[in-house]
Amino acid sequence: LRHRQPIIAIDGPAGAGKSTVTRKIAQALGLLYLDTGAMYRAVTWLVLQSGIAIDDEPAIAEIVSQCQIELIPDGEQPRTVINGEDVTEAIRSLEVTANVSAIASQWAVRQALVKQQQAFGRQGGIVAEGRDIGTTVFPDAELKIFLTASVQERAKRRLLELHTKGKIEVTQEQLEQDIAQRDQLDSNRAISPLRKASDAVEIQTDNLTIDDVIQRVVGLYSREQGTA
Ligand code: DC
Repeated sequence: LRHRQPIIAIDGPAGAGKSTVTRKIAQALGLLYLDTGAMYRAVTWLVLQSGIAIDDEPAIAEIVSQCQIELIPDGEQPRTVINGEDVTEAIRSLEVTANVSAIASQWAVRQALVKQQQAFGRQGGIVAEGRDIGTTVFPDAELKIFLTASVQERAKRRLLELHTKGKIEVTQEQLEQDIAQRDQLDSNRAISPLRKASDAVEIQTDNLTIDDVIQRVVGLYSREQGTA
């Protein structure tokens, strides 16, 4: 017998389409959406904001132990609030993006945020997106997906997204470099590196549309639920 509602874990590198896919799957299946990257980004924003050095681990441990993060459902895009301040847009800035890997590699930060994520998922009924969901946060998730795409494809998608937003100050090459570097940092850090769980289903999305991916995940989920 199930002790809680099911959990879907969606992991993979930056730019593989996790956010869009996770959001839409949450909608399609009526599950809560947990964006764990937004939590690491919010802490990074707070650290930058407070003027603490990005490698001052004791000071950051202190900040993270005291901060309050809320993920508030709001249509398609949930709002991210830290210590009462809405940082939904601010956490997507280039500055936050450039510093988040350094914050997410700190043990105290991960320990605090993983605990909050597990509390959020206690009742289940969620689809959670991140890097270590299937391996560390919810190792007992009913369905684990590992979404990937080539560096070139991910840079292309990101460029398109920036163009749509009217931000075109970066080139495809720069984006490829950024993405490769972030992969490197996220995959090689000592604590909870980006890694496919042994029981995760890998989906390579280079030649798939968002709808293709959603169909596959929903299909896998229905099968899992059918055999439960
Ligand atoms: O998915 P994202 O780009 O919003 O994630 C931001 C950063 O946070 C990314 O560099 C990796 C890190 N992260 C992590 O280490 N563990 C998670 N569960 C989610 C994100």
